[in-house]
Amino acid sequence: MSETTRPIQFYFRGQTHEVAGQPTTRTVLQHLREDLHCTGTKEGCAEGDCGACTVVVGELRDDQLELKTVNACIQFLPTLDGRALFTVEDLKQSDGCLHPVQQAMVECHGSQCGFCTPGFVMSLWGLYLKHDKDGITPDKREIDDALSGNLCRCTGYRPIIDAARRMGELPKVEFDREAVKTALRAIDQDTPLAVTHAGQTFHAPRTLAQLVQLRTDLPKAR
Ligand code: FES
Ligand code: FES
Repeated sequence: MSETTRPIQFYFRGQTHEVAGQPTTRTVLQHLREDLHCTGTKEGCAEGDCGACTVVVGELRDDQLELKTVNACIQFLPTLDGRALFTVEDLKQSDGCLHPVQQAMVECHGSQCGFCTPGFVMSLWGLYLKHDKDGITPDKREIDDALSGNLCRCTGYRPIIDAARRMGELPKVEFDREAVKTALRAIDQDTPLAVTHAGQTFHAPRTLAQLVQLRTDLPKAR
């Protein structure tokens, strides 16, 4: 199987972002905060429990853009290859206004110390994008599901749930899915990736056949 040691490539801040020479287990959160100095995404527990580090990752599936929230503290950087990464800084509007998700958090008093807030905002943004076209206000169960990975120690959850209902009532902010899809189509989605650093290799097969071949070639791989 032909693999490449090309840089990891992903869509970030409106362009293709390339990373090379990083440990295979470097996390998305470490890269954001320590390499790019994008400190809006917070580190709470650093083990996938609190949601302070929540970001949104997009990928093409059958040429449609699928978005999901992930914990950046347990997401290894090479897994972003071919995908799109969105953080709380991406919600900033060109006119300086808050995104409706953020405005709703302000109006509903959904933040006190604020440490959990970027994570909640990104989970709410993921929910917002599920309904920005159909205009449906998410019900309590859907809101609970969307926020189930986020912990808040000081505000309590009712104001944040209120914000989840309120955000859809505010003037809409469009998310340009087509621009992201176009950018992702321009990134190599087919060539399997192998990233090697300090004797460790991260393999990213693209097909089941490639995965089977890797298991055959590297039966002790984890
Ligand atoms: S920092 Fe707590 S889940 Fe990532
Ligand atoms: S506002 Fe302080 S932890 Fe949520």
